Amino acid sequence: MLRLPLFLHLLLLLFFNLSAASPLYQTFLRCLQNHSDPNQLTSNIVFDPTNISYSSLLRAYIRNARFNTSSTPKPTFIITPLHESHLQFTLICAKSSALHIRIRSGGHDFEGLSYASVSPSPFILIDMFNLRSIAVDLQSRSAWVQAGATLGELYYRIWEQSKLHGFPAGVCPTVGVGGHISGGGYGNMLRKFGLSVDHVVDARIVDANGRIVDRKMMGEDLFWAIRGGGGASFGVILAYKIQLVPVPETVTVFRLQRTLEDNGTDMVYRWQHIAPNTDSDLFMRLLLQPIYSKPKKTVRASVYTLFLGRADRLLSILKRDFPELGLKKEDCIEMGWIESVIWWANYEHGTSLRVLLGRSPGLAHFQKRKSDYVQTPISKDGLELLWKKLMELDKTELVFNPYGGKMNEISALDTAFPRRAGNLFKIQYSVSWKEQGIEAEKSHVNQLQLLYNFLTPYVSKNPRTAYFNYRDLDIGTNHNYDAANSFEEGKVYGIKYFKENFERLVRVKTAVDPQNFFRDEQSIPAFPKLQSSGLSWSGGWRLTMVAIFMFTAQLL
Ligand SMILES: Cc1cc2nc3c(=O)[nH]c(=O)nc-3n(C[C@H](O)[C@H](O)[C@H](O)COP(=O)(O)OP(=O)(O)OC[C@H]3O[C@@H](n4cnc5c(N)ncnc54)[C@H](O)[C@@H]3O)c2cc1C
Ligand SMILES: *[C@@H]1O[C@H](CO)[C@@H](O)[C@H](O)[C@H]1NC(C)=O
Ligand SMILES: *[C@@H]1O[C@H](CO)[C@@H](O)[C@H](O)[C@H]1NC(C)=O
Ligand SMILES: *[C@@H]1O[C@H](CO)[C@@H](O)[C@H](O)[C@H]1NC(C)=O
Ligand SMILES: *[C@@H]1O[C@H](CO)[C@@H](O)[C@H](O)[C@H]1NC(C)=O
Repeated sequence: MLRLPLFLHLLLLLFFNLSAASPLYQTFLRCLQNHSDPNQLTSNIVFDPTNISYSSLLRAYIRNARFNTSSTPKPTFIITPLHESHLQFTLICAKSSALHIRIRSGGHDFEGLSYASVSPSPFILIDMFNLRSIAVDLQSRSAWVQAGATLGELYYRIWEQSKLHGFPAGVCPTVGVGGHISGGGYGNMLRKFGLSVDHVVDARIVDANGRIVDRKMMGEDLFWAIRGGGGASFGVILAYKIQLVPVPETVTVFRLQRTLEDNGTDMVYRWQHIAPNTDSDLFMRLLLQPIYSKPKKTVRASVYTLFLGRADRLLSILKRDFPELGLKKEDCIEMGWIESVIWWANYEHGTSLRVLLGRSPGLAHFQKRKSDYVQTPISKDGLELLWKKLMELDKTELVFNPYGGKMNEISALDTAFPRRAGNLFKIQYSVSWKEQGIEAEKSHVNQLQLLYNFLTPYVSKNPRTAYFNYRDLDIGTNHNYDAANSFEEGKVYGIKYFKENFERLVRVKTAVDPQNFFRDEQSIPAFPKLQSSGLSWSGGWRLTMVAIFMFTAQLL
């Protein structure tokens, strides 16, 4: 028997793995070249795992170390389209090569669904980073933004044209437009202007047939779905046309911190009544963290604020509405809107605005997030128990984001995003860690789950709702990618993310992608096919009855 040294074994293994993958690669490449316009070179946009750039490309937009391990499933190859038509060919060829796809814009998905898949079947990663142009038109107060742009780039390009315009989207500048806007998108102007999707007026997408369609061609149902229902279930979002909003020349920010020893409980209790009801120019985010403050553990409540106006008016509003906060003039910093974007992104005041064009957020930790909505204020007794829980768990944190204002004026049916009037604030649960390995992951994720269980009595019920953009695989019944085929599985997370809008999303999905080509672990399912399901069968049965009835009616 031949006895090969271990490294040769490995080498052979590697060789066979690669050569096993390459027929697929060759077929796909040939298909691309077959379809492409000879002027649109497509050979230099496909990277297979043997390519020297593959790893760095893959990692460039991984934002969560949990999906940056050797056991994370990797794409069969990565496509980096340079032109819209490349996406059309890519979809056609992915279909004909029986490859699944993942679409990545900014890569901030909390469960890594834009670049990893738990499915054993091969998938390709379509990375949108080359498609990131932004065209601002001040005359019409609008902009076309390609999906691969980041929010930071968008804010910067608006600011270049006008200091008096902005856009209501997320506070983290490296978040991608493609995922963020399609999933709803909120930021610190939500109480004044609502969500990002409330300001989308047109879109361009590549549909399941490889056609490029705009709002008029795709129709109002699909256009409705890609405003809050997520992009990845319906097509590849190429670009959104957004309406800009007016921002004042001077805005005011402040951050105040209180521990339990400084009447923190009273402050948080009052916050729940005031933050969702006060002037809509005012957004006060609340961050709750267990900290060690000599000689013991406590909880720190930090209020981060954006006020769309000057400090004097802010002081008089808070003196009237929230004296418990004890805001002083010295706490307030006045600045332009774009500087407030930098301040909110945790850069030091005075940092060059060009940081907004940086696409890498730096080191990423291991992370897990969850979400909830609160509809009645938590009692002081409830808060006291919560502090105990936060201190006991030690690693988990909460962020409360107030609703109200404009959010109350928009119908829950207007866009696919369902949570409007009746919600006081949204909770984001977070835990981050640095230790490698499955044990560390289990223990941290478990802590977050315990906190989530603890808060059950205080949050929305039947269904307990969640924010789609705070992706959380645990709210489904299983994490099986192919289960996205199943209507019953999809309903479990679908109702939690979309409430009464889920059914319309399924109708749109069934109409535009009945084959369920665009799918992932938490995509919108299509209605079950006629022959295979009780539900459609009974629909078919009803149709048959109607036909028989009409037939007999004719006879009579
Ligand atoms: C640090 C951080 C801060 C955040 N802050 C906020 C915030 O302030 N407000 C808020 O609302 N959310 C926030 N989020 C959540 C964020 O909005 C979502 O994670 C969003 O989906 C990210 O978009 P992306 O393009 O960066 O992500 P990706 O991971 O690229 O994509 C997310 C999902 O959208 C799909 N998708 C992406 N691009 C396209 C496309 N072109 N066509 C079709 N489908 C596409 C992906 O397949 C995936 O399913 C934050 C997330 C992080 C990590
Ligand atoms: C490419 O086109 C040729 C000629 O039309 C066809 O025979 C071949 O099957 C195509 N290959 C792929 C991979 O689509
Ligand atoms: C890597 O892939 C790119 C894009 O297809 C190609 O241009 C390049 O030549 C490849 N490099 C190597 C070393 O194979
Ligand atoms: C992913 O892993 C590589 C190699 O270990 C590392 O250089 C990179 O910083 C990691 N990225 C993230 C987001 O964890
Ligand atoms: C806490 O509240 C009490 C009663 O309202 C008040 O007397 C005291 O000054 C407050 N302490 C702090 C640190 O704000």
